[in-house]
Amino acid sequence: MRRLLSLLLPIGLALLVPAAMLRASDEEKPVARTYAPMLVAPMSQTAEQVAAKSDGCYSCHTRTDQPSMHASPAVQLGCVDCHGGDATVRGDPQLGFKDPVYVAARERAHVLPRYPHRWHYPDSANPKGSYTLLNDEAPEYIRFVNPGDYRVVRNSCGACHIEVIEAAERSGSLITAQRAAEQDREVFVVPGSPMDPRHAGSNSLIRDGAILTRGENDILSVMGLPHSPRQAVENPSQKSDDSTTAKVVEALGPTPTAVDELVRRCQVSAAAVAEVLLALELEGRLERHRGNRVSLM
Ligand code: HEC
Ligand code: HEC
Ligand code: HEC
Repeated sequence: MRRLLSLLLPIGLALLVPAAMLRASDEEKPVARTYAPMLVAPMSQTAEQVAAKSDGCYSCHTRTDQPSMHASPAVQLGCVDCHGGDATVRGDPQLGFKDPVYVAARERAHVLPRYPHRWHYPDSANPKGSYTLLNDEAPEYIRFVNPGDYRVVRNSCGACHIEVIEAAERSGSLITAQRAAEQDREVFVVPGSPMDPRHAGSNSLIRDGAILTRGENDILSVMGLPHSPRQAVENPSQKSDDSTTAKVVEALGPTPTAVDELVRRCQVSAAAVAEVLLALELEGRLERHRGNRVSLM
């Protein structure tokens, strides 16, 4: 369960800048849509039920080794459980992607956006700033493009991962990201290794349009400020290992300690300390106090 902690959110670093300058000034009028109600992905079901929930999707999407998008074959989920859409609709790829009959089938099977032009629909390469653009779309569509988005995650993942979701919801970082999205601000995220599940959440924010941040210059660029001469590039996957966690935990106690002081005492980077603190917070072991001070619970 622990490695799942980062799944839904875990932003090592989130800085906020108004997104107005990034948002395209497009005047597209919303298309009126009626969405089918969002169902909750069930904790358990039969193989037949799973097959029925993926059937039509497979007529156009190729089968993969991990149909549930989980490494474990024990997880029984159909496409519709997570994405929504209509799995009774079948398409014929032999017609070609542009054929009107094919397109009509795809549109019936998929959940469609209110602003198709902004999304370059149906191209799955998402536009820049899509993280905030999604605020204008219905939850049904958000779920279709990313079932793991925190705005819909209780429906798609809640039956089996509710503890992680609730821990993530209590975390200061997720609240920050939520506020940022609500206020139409841009979210900056430090990427992690795609093979490390602890970074799945933050990496998917990047996929959804948060700004990939490798160092201070990435932030300065977006703000239109001159670059600083040195570009601090750190390998995020090496930032926190077990020995860092041990050092930080040792330096912490029940009395509040300033985060700066922790960084000095542990002699590791501020980013590494922040990552350990976030993990502790999600586990419910850390309390935050005024003045950027923290203590163990
Ligand atoms: C008639 C063919 C067809 C059917 C049926 C179909 N799809 Fe698709 N789907 C496509 C095509 C074509 C794309 C676009 C691929 C691209 O541009 O990368 C796509 C893209 C997607 C995307 C990516 C959208 C995005 O914006 O990121 C998702 C998710 C998806 N389909 C899920 C489903 C699910 C779930 C089902 C079953 C309920 C389904 N599809 C049924 C043809 C189909
Ligand atoms: C456990 C829930 C779950 C199930 C079941 C599931 N998906 Fe997904 N799918 C996701 C998530 C989460 C993402 C977004 C991943 C990301 O952004 O990296 C996704 C992304 C996608 C994409 C977009 C990929 C891209 O590169 O943009 C397509 C297409 C897709 N899924 C199709 C399917 C099809 C077809 C099925 C059924 C065979 C299916 N999914 C079953 C959770 C699921
Ligand atoms: C039907 C129950 C169920 C649902 C719904 C579900 N999961 Fe899982 N998930 C599991 C189980 C069980 C495991 C543990 C598998 C293991 O350890 O072998 C798991 C493990 C994971 C992991 C760890 C790596 C992996 O691939 O096994 C990730 C990441 C994950 N789930 C993401 C999601 C996301 C995101 C959603 C919603 C879009 C979701 N899950 C919905 C049951 C579920």
